[in-house]
Amino acid sequence: MRKKILILGSGIAAHVVASELCHHYDVTILTKETKSHNNSLKAQGGIAAALSIDDSWQQHVQDTIKAGSYYNDNNAVEFLCKNGKKEILTLTEQIAFDCTPYGELSLGKEGAHSTRRIVRAGGDQIGVHLMNYYANQIQENVHMIENEMAIELVIEDNQLTGVITIDTNNNRKQYEADDVVIATGGCGNLFATTSNDKSVTGDGIALAYRAGALIRDMEFIQFHPTMLPSGGLISEAVRGEGGFLVDEQNMRFMDAYSELGDLASRDIVARAIHQEKQKGHSIYLNISEIQEFEIRFPQITSICEESNINWQEGLIPITPGAHFLMGGIATDMNGETSIPHLYAVGEVACSGVHGANRLASNSLLEGIVFAKQVAHTIRTKTVFEKQTIPKLTTNYKECSLPSLSILQEKMMQYCGIERNTIELKQLITWLERYILPLPSILQKSRQEIELYHCYTTAWLIATSAYRRKASIGAHYLIDGEKSFSSQPIYRQNQELGMEVF
Ligand code: SIN
Repeated sequence: MRKKILILGSGIAAHVVASELCHHYDVTILTKETKSHNNSLKAQGGIAAALSIDDSWQQHVQDTIKAGSYYNDNNAVEFLCKNGKKEILTLTEQIAFDCTPYGELSLGKEGAHSTRRIVRAGGDQIGVHLMNYYANQIQENVHMIENEMAIELVIEDNQLTGVITIDTNNNRKQYEADDVVIATGGCGNLFATTSNDKSVTGDGIALAYRAGALIRDMEFIQFHPTMLPSGGLISEAVRGEGGFLVDEQNMRFMDAYSELGDLASRDIVARAIHQEKQKGHSIYLNISEIQEFEIRFPQITSICEESNINWQEGLIPITPGAHFLMGGIATDMNGETSIPHLYAVGEVACSGVHGANRLASNSLLEGIVFAKQVAHTIRTKTVFEKQTIPKLTTNYKECSLPSLSILQEKMMQYCGIERNTIELKQLITWLERYILPLPSILQKSRQEIELYHCYTTAWLIATSAYRRKASIGAHYLIDGEKSFSSQPIYRQNQELGMEVF
């Protein structure tokens, strides 16, 4: 009998694992909405790889670790940058990446990269190009189930045996699996302003947490500096090509915040914009010096036009929004979680590769490189260490939750770009009114379960932020240590997922 592999999620990591395994095993991708509801398809900027002759994967490692505030797992970063270079080189034979008129790759620049190393496609449509390629690789060989949401990992006799799902009519099904791979992405939609697809609400993390998996570094939420106030990402590549931030008087301000100016790392730029807005300024991206903007950035041009923004005047109004989760389900370099036969990969996973703040255009790269490693591990691993999977309480209570929009506003306000311990504590107390003790989800509707998962993941973020007393990377406490420290601090929260209510 062929092994059964169940992959949750439909972004690049899910597709790469599926494409690597579908000729050996019985592979199913299960996704809570349609297969086009994911962040990978929306990716604009590009994919980072040290491909130019004056670059090296070692330099890419240095930039990744510096942007991550030196909190990264160095082995994971080396693995990413070294293998990433090889993977993207191989993909150049399959995908029409953007080239110069001389046929060389046209490499872009983004924040905190010391050189041009962003591989692009269709100007600002790397996500569509990569996803089309991988979708073609798996078609007919993978069973694709859409509109079903995983609500519980089934653990019998200390062994993961499958997943329970719920469909849009609230029907439940149970799927058996030898290995389950969670690739459900991050949790941007727990915040009122986000670049993420509406479906990205952190349910993979809540699912793993409920099953007793270790979760770590949840306080590190990356806010992308440049989003339209009405929603829609304006890629960092725009600043890489000469765009710059200004206030309503067309005055630049980033030089006061970093020697890298507009191309500082995202945590610094987002915080600078936030602070300028708090002083009462309105912030814009000045694109007046970029030639042929609409040809270079076709997707961004349409996003602006859909929002009735006259980009031709040279100023795009922007605001920061939740973009990427550096934390997640704790994994080793093989994507193995603390539960045998449960893997996590892509944004939902935390191997430590991004440290406290991800370097621009490293996320698709992570999705490809670590997904290949997960697939390799599934193919080759036969012996698993015996683990006792902790049983969570059965002291259930019934409760109904306030709406998602109330949660999003609270997360944005109390757990956003700048935090303080008093408000974090208030947020935790408010969240705990609804989720402690752990409510039973067995009889609930799909909508209620999804909301409950949102509250659980929000609580993990808030408690992690409250526990980390020093500012580092994307976690900035106004009443904590103030410096933008460039030294490793400490790892806490490693045991968070083991807490039993
Ligand atoms: C962007 O294009 O600015 C986003 C890409 C990324 O998150 O790395």
